[in-house]
Amino acid sequence: MDTAAAKRAWTALKGIGGWFSYEAAMLFAITDRVQQEDGVRGHIFEIGSHHGRSTVLLVDMLSRTDEKLVICDLFDDQAANVSASGKGDFAIFERNVMRRAPSSDSVVIHRKLSQDLSADDLGMGYRFLHIDGGHNADEALADLELCASVMVPGGAMLIDDILRVEWPGVTEAVVRFLDARPEFTPVVIGFNKLLIVRADDAERYRSRFRDRGLMAAYGVRFPWQTKLLPFVGHDVLIYYVHSSDQRITPRTLAKRVYHGLRS
Ligand SMILES: C[S@@+](CC[C@H](N)C(=O)[O-])C[C@H]1O[C@@H](n2cnc3c(N)ncnc32)[C@H](O)[C@@H]1O
Repeated sequence: MDTAAAKRAWTALKGIGGWFSYEAAMLFAITDRVQQEDGVRGHIFEIGSHHGRSTVLLVDMLSRTDEKLVICDLFDDQAANVSASGKGDFAIFERNVMRRAPSSDSVVIHRKLSQDLSADDLGMGYRFLHIDGGHNADEALADLELCASVMVPGGAMLIDDILRVEWPGVTEAVVRFLDARPEFTPVVIGFNKLLIVRADDAERYRSRFRDRGLMAAYGVRFPWQTKLLPFVGHDVLIYYVHSSDQRITPRTLAKRVYHGLRS
């Protein structure tokens, strides 16, 4: 997804309720761009849509007529939402998402627990998988395993709420998954997401996310800084805002303006 398409999608989704930030949207757009540049083809899958805020971007990522977007959410069966993450609503989701879909059969919707969905139900061949459903450890681990089982070579999984005090289950699931599956590597943590790819593909993705010029073209610049740190035995690129830049003071405001003008 190029910068213009990414910014168009952001304009379309920003009024929708949910938790998907501008920078997370650009992380998705650049991941999609890497896949387009490297010839990675396949479907897109999202677990956890809520009102469709992240889903609208995924709809816009459907680049070929043979690609489908598959969604799984409990939607109106909130009694089954045991971790109380988000609150799907099918009518709102449908209103927000389906008008942007290229055709009605390009979007497949499973209104159920993701734990009740199997690789056979999904079919193989997914290039981009967004995990943002149940946030308990066993739910998130099952979602990681399901997504890993249907991901094409060169594909990417993005999991939400990777390092948040209110969702330790997601962190536990990721650590358990990476410990058990050395063929997968965490590549980038930032904007509340973790990008996981197969070990063979890690450098191709990492080099794009280390390219500050590319990130700036998508509007990801100061106050975001990077560092490379080990996480579960892998060097992971971290996007973070230094604590001194988190409060808006006249100085940080001036720095934001200065860096905004320079890039
Ligand atoms: C945090 S919200 C998703 C937010 C959305 N991706 C966004 O960026 O705005 C989590 C969603 O997952 C759904 N959900 C929770 N547990 C689930 C499960 N076990 N299986 C399927 N969906 C689940 C909820 O209904 C809710 O809509």
